[in-house]
Amino acid sequence: MASVDVVKEEDPTNNVPDPIYSKIGLQLHRSGNHPLGILKNTIYDYFDKNFSGKFNKFDDLCPLVSVKQNFDDVLVPADHVSRSYNDTYYVDAQTVLRCHTSAHQAELLRDGHTHFLVTGDVYRRDSIDSTHYPVFHQMEGFRVFSPDDWSDSGMDGTAYAAADLKKTLEGLARHLFGAVEMRWVDTYFPFTNPSFELEIYFQDDWLEVLGCGVTEQEILKSNGRTDHVAWAFGLGLERLSMVLFDIPDIRLFWSNDQRFTSQFSEGKLGVKFKPFSKFPPCYKDMSFWINEEFTENNLCEVVRGIAGDLVEEVKLIDNFTNKKGMTSHCYRIAYRSMERSLTDEEINDMQWNVREEVKNKLKVELR
Ligand code: DAH
Repeated sequence: MASVDVVKEEDPTNNVPDPIYSKIGLQLHRSGNHPLGILKNTIYDYFDKNFSGKFNKFDDLCPLVSVKQNFDDVLVPADHVSRSYNDTYYVDAQTVLRCHTSAHQAELLRDGHTHFLVTGDVYRRDSIDSTHYPVFHQMEGFRVFSPDDWSDSGMDGTAYAAADLKKTLEGLARHLFGAVEMRWVDTYFPFTNPSFELEIYFQDDWLEVLGCGVTEQEILKSNGRTDHVAWAFGLGLERLSMVLFDIPDIRLFWSNDQRFTSQFSEGKLGVKFKPFSKFPPCYKDMSFWINEEFTENNLCEVVRGIAGDLVEEVKLIDNFTNKKGMTSHCYRIAYRSMERSLTDEEINDMQWNVREEVKNKLKVELR
């Protein structure tokens, strides 16, 4: 795919910048020596072992999908925030960079699959800190049951699927983490009912590891599986890898530095990452009067467009409204390379460019 097919500078229905375009096709999850690939393969092993190879695996589906696939097919309401240009990358009014691997549920069901795992890169406009990056990786799991499967169980289809789902994912969590404490939390997703999150107790805290639930009947009915039930889950591979490998910053997954890449190898889940040295962060503050259209996601896109992976965090540190009703925001930008020391000069240059672009692109008034 050519850059011009995705990054359309003058098209108001397109909000994909070059740095995001350049991530398409890298497929970190398909490299067996990369933490994401190691985790993917370990999850594959669990499903292969417990379901005798019944799960079909997809890890090469194109991340450019239609609005219908990403949202409509999985019943995301028309007014849901995730559809906004502030949250999702649109290539044009009908095409997005998928914001979740759930975008592939419907087509795979229609193709007749009943057990599948879909792994891929997903894209979301977001704020910047050590656990958020606009491109990350998810794995979707999906299993269909026919009435024969639950007829002898004394349960209805939904209860049967929910019980099987919980058993399957508790087993997966033990496969990855060993004997951990876990808990189920009720939640909401448009595509499942009931919906749950699985949390595990890790380093003195409950950590959400995945979302899941019993698939809405409407999705099955629309895709050729009337009278069936199904469960589905979606998990974030970076989130789990950061915990399993002790990776402190999400930008590291994209690093080509040998000192990072050489620490991981095929089949070795949970080898602890040894930081090769911690370079000092440099903080720069900027304050401006915001306008009606201002959003933090737009600010972060501008900062990342200039500083790329040298920006570690963008944080609102002060916020007030004056008597005239004007609102001021002060953001603290942390610059830090994972690989080297930054010079004062290059940081000052970046900050200068950030200020100029924030002023010109976001039309805010610098203070
Ligand atoms: N698509 C959800 C997300 O990105 C994750 C998810 C939740 C996937 C529940 C599922 C599911 O398949 O059943 O946050």
